[in-house]
Amino acid sequence: MELTVVILAAGQGKRMKSALPKVLQPLAGKPLLGHVVGVAKQLEPAGIVVVHGDGGAQVRAAMADYTLNWAQQAEQLGTGHAVKQALPQIDPKHRVLILCGDVPLIQPKTLEALIAAAGDSSLAVLTAQVADPTGYGRIIRDAHDRVRAIVEEKDASPEQRAVTEINTGLIACPAHSLGIWLEQLKANNAQGEYYLTDIIGLAVDEGTNVEAVLAESEVEVMGINDKLQLAEAERAFQLANARSLMKQGVTLADPDRIDVRGELICGKDVYIDVNAIFEGRVELGDNVRIESNTVIRDSVIGAGTRIHPNCVIEEAMIAANCQIGPYARLRPGVELSEEVKLGNFVELKKSIVGSGSKVNHLSYIGDTTIGTDVNVGAGTITCNYDGANKHRTIIGDGAFIGSGVQLVAPVEVGAEATIGAGSTISKSTPAGELTVERSKQTVVRGWKRPTKEKKD
Ligand code: UD1
Ligand code: CA
Repeated sequence: MELTVVILAAGQGKRMKSALPKVLQPLAGKPLLGHVVGVAKQLEPAGIVVVHGDGGAQVRAAMADYTLNWAQQAEQLGTGHAVKQALPQIDPKHRVLILCGDVPLIQPKTLEALIAAAGDSSLAVLTAQVADPTGYGRIIRDAHDRVRAIVEEKDASPEQRAVTEINTGLIACPAHSLGIWLEQLKANNAQGEYYLTDIIGLAVDEGTNVEAVLAESEVEVMGINDKLQLAEAERAFQLANARSLMKQGVTLADPDRIDVRGELICGKDVYIDVNAIFEGRVELGDNVRIESNTVIRDSVIGAGTRIHPNCVIEEAMIAANCQIGPYARLRPGVELSEEVKLGNFVELKKSIVGSGSKVNHLSYIGDTTIGTDVNVGAGTITCNYDGANKHRTIIGDGAFIGSGVQLVAPVEVGAEATIGAGSTISKSTPAGELTVERSKQTVVRGWKRPTKEKKD
């Protein structure tokens, strides 16, 4: 039987108290819905139908990278009503898996078990045993321990509320039967909504086999309704990710203090100190050391390179055995060859640096090509912007730039050239020679400092 996945994402998410639709709230840097779609894709279904509500255009735009079918639920009349909006796009011969846009940590393995339990003709619901069932629908079983119905918290009696087996909201069943059950839903409940959960009672009444599959972990089926649950899910996700990194051999100073918002690929013997944040796709070579309070986005860092504390690195290609920071900022478009040293309070943008070169203190290097074994002195600035256009600076191999130099681009410093400290270089300088641009030092003999006037 072929599979169609329906993802419910039309709820306004009032409890988030946010202008951003709930399913677009980020978990590990990716919208909640993105996580659910990612898992659904792994099941290789014939199609995925996402039910959206008011913020439809925004939700569709955020999911533009995926091939999805969309159904609109104009009014949020409940989860059952939401599934009904997807029905016209589901082949009645298919099996349907219903997922929730706000249950993002679910694992493919669990869903495979749920689909298997549904078989060709049963209804299978994923349940969980939780310590605190507040807010969830409760699984009601009969004297023979068979699932009888699901009761929402707002409709539950005190005895029913005491039940700790809850509905995760995830259901698999034949599409044909689903259509029949949805037609019979009534909104005569505490919330005046068409509850999807009522199909369980309907299925039992008509003699359809109902299977409950118990999820292995409570975390995996966590439904996210507010910022508190969002933060709990984030920590759970990050801890699981940290554990898997450690299993791969990465040393983490503290698994509770690393955040990966994307993909982190590590070589052998990588060490990561506390409060490191990785975004997008980051690759760390063998023996890389990432020290504390560092943010790295979409970058590749070569073997043996050490990132000292408090660096921000975006879209950079860093070769082996470099030393970066502390307090360095690499903006997009930086390429460093091997054994480059960038020190504290150094900012680079769209620049290429040859092997063995050093920019050690308090510099801005933008739109620049630096050769090999260049020394850029403290406080050197490339003046790359004339107020309208950006221009390039080129520094030849082996050049030595003294401290406090301004290089007014476009400008070229020849190989092995030396630039005297404090120079403002606006014309290209010859290779191998010393160039100094500096006014003569004068001494004013006998000059006296002004003194404070005495007032009586
Ligand atoms: C729902 C279940 C509850 C379960 C819990 C698990 C129902 C009636 N209740 O409750 O048994 O324990 O999930 O997390 O199904 N949605 C729509 N349209 C609507 C209403 C909701 O698309 O009209 C979507 C939401 O965007 C969300 C999902 O359905 O993704 C669940 O809705 P929500 O309001 O969060 O339901 P819960 O109260 O959490
Ligand atoms: Ca929910």
